[in-house]
Amino acid sequence: MGRLNAKYSLTKTLAVLVVAGLLAACNIQTYDDAVASIQGGGNTPPPEPPPPPPGASFGPNFSEIQSGLFTPTCATSSCHSGGNPPAGLNLEAGSSYANLVGIASSQEPGTQRVNAGNPDSSYLVQKLEGTAATGTVMPPSGGIAPADIDVVRQWISAGAVDDTVVAQGPIQVTSLMPVPDANLDAQPSQIVAGFSRDLDVSTINALTFTLTSSGGDGNFNSGNEVSVTAASISVPGGNQASAVFDLAGATLADDIYRVTLFGDGANVIMDLDANALDGEGPGLPSGDGSAGGNFIAQFTITTPVVVGATLDEIQAVIFTPSCASCHSATGNTGGITNLDLSNADASLMSLVDVPSEQDANFVRVLPGEPDNSYLVQKMQGTASAGGVMPPSGMLGTAEIDAVRLWISNGAVR
Ligand code: HEC
Repeated sequence: MGRLNAKYSLTKTLAVLVVAGLLAACNIQTYDDAVASIQGGGNTPPPEPPPPPPGASFGPNFSEIQSGLFTPTCATSSCHSGGNPPAGLNLEAGSSYANLVGIASSQEPGTQRVNAGNPDSSYLVQKLEGTAATGTVMPPSGGIAPADIDVVRQWISAGAVDDTVVAQGPIQVTSLMPVPDANLDAQPSQIVAGFSRDLDVSTINALTFTLTSSGGDGNFNSGNEVSVTAASISVPGGNQASAVFDLAGATLADDIYRVTLFGDGANVIMDLDANALDGEGPGLPSGDGSAGGNFIAQFTITTPVVVGATLDEIQAVIFTPSCASCHSATGNTGGITNLDLSNADASLMSLVDVPSEQDANFVRVLPGEPDNSYLVQKMQGTASAGGVMPPSGMLGTAEIDAVRLWISNGAVR
C-alpha cells in the first residue's frame, strides 16, 4: 500500500512538471471544433461502459479515463486545471474532452491530441507511450501501466465517444394550453405549446403550427374546416422551448378546434440539432420515441347561454323550446294533468303556488325559495319522483340559475 502511494505521488509530480514544461505556450485551435465534435452524435445513445480489461485500473470509456487518469494525474491544482492552464490544456472533468478530441497538439500542430478512431496518430497516446516526436514520455516516470494505456487506445479506437453527453431523444411537445380536450366557455387569447428543449425558431410558423375549426359540424373531414389566422406565431425570446399562437383580434365562434404541430411533411418543427418533432399525441409528452409525427389536440369553445331572469325570457329560452312539447294545455304526459308551459301566462298559472302532482310536500314554484320549488328540483334532477326535466338531459347551469333567480326575485310575470 505504502509503495503504491509513493509511486503514485511521484508519478503525479513528474507529470505536472513535464506536462507544464512541454506544452507551455500552446496555440489551441478553436473551441467550436471541439464543440462540433462533441455534438456530432446528438441522438446516439451512449454505449454501455465496458468493464476494465484485465490488469487495467479503469474501463475504456471517457468518464472512467477522466476519473482514473486525467483528474488524479493531470488536472492537479498547479497544472492542467483552472482558467489559464499550461498550453491552454485543461484536463478537468467537463473541459478535457473539448480540449483533446480533434484538437491539434501545441507541440506538434500536425497531430491531434486525440484523433478519434486512430490511437497511433493521437498525440495523447504518443506522449503516454513515449513515442512523441517532441519532449518526453508522459508522465515522465513512465508510471502509467501499459494496460491503462491500452484502455486509452481502446477508447480512441472506438471513436473517442464522450459518454458523459446525455443522449437526447427527439424533441417532444410537453405541454399545451388550452390543454388537450379542454372545454372552454370563452375563446383563449393565445395557444402556448411547450417543448422538451429549445426550438429552431425558424421552424415555428404558420405552416408548422396551425389552428383549425371544424366549421361548426364537429367533423374535421367534411371539407368545411376553417383555418384560423394568428396575429403572430412566435417563440418568446426568453424561452426558446415554447411557441405561441397569438389569437389577438381573432373571433372564434363556438366550435371544436384542432391544434396541429407538424412533425411530418415538408415543413416540420425542429430542435437546434435539426431533429424533427416527435409529435404523436394528444398524450403528453408527445411522441413514440422516434422523430416525426404530427401532434394533434382539440379543444371546444361553448359560450354559456345568457338567460335573463324574467318569466318572458325563461319562457322564450327554456319553457317553449325545451318543455312545451310535453307540457301544454293539450299535451300533458306521464300522469301530469295540469302543467301548461306553452306560454308565459299559462306557465305562471301552472307553476306559482301550484302543488306538485308528484310530491305533495312541495309546490311547483314557491316564490323566494328556489330550493323548495319542485320545478327547480325537477330541473336539477333532485326531485323525489320521476326523472330530470327535460328528460333528454339536464339543462346548463346558466339556464337553471336563471330559473332560480326568477324564483328568488318573487316569481312574478
Ligand atoms: C319528453 C317529454 C317531456 C319534456 C320535454 C319535459 N317533460 Fe316534464 N315531465 C314529463 C313526464 C313524463 C313527467 C312525469 C314523469 C317524470 O317526472 O319523470 C314530467 C314531470 C314534470 C314535472 C313534475 C310535475 C309535478 O306536478 O310533479 C315538472 C315540474 C316538469 N315535468 C317540468 C318540466 C320542465 C320545466 C321541462 C322543460 C325544461 C320539462 N318538464 C320537459 C315529460 C316531459
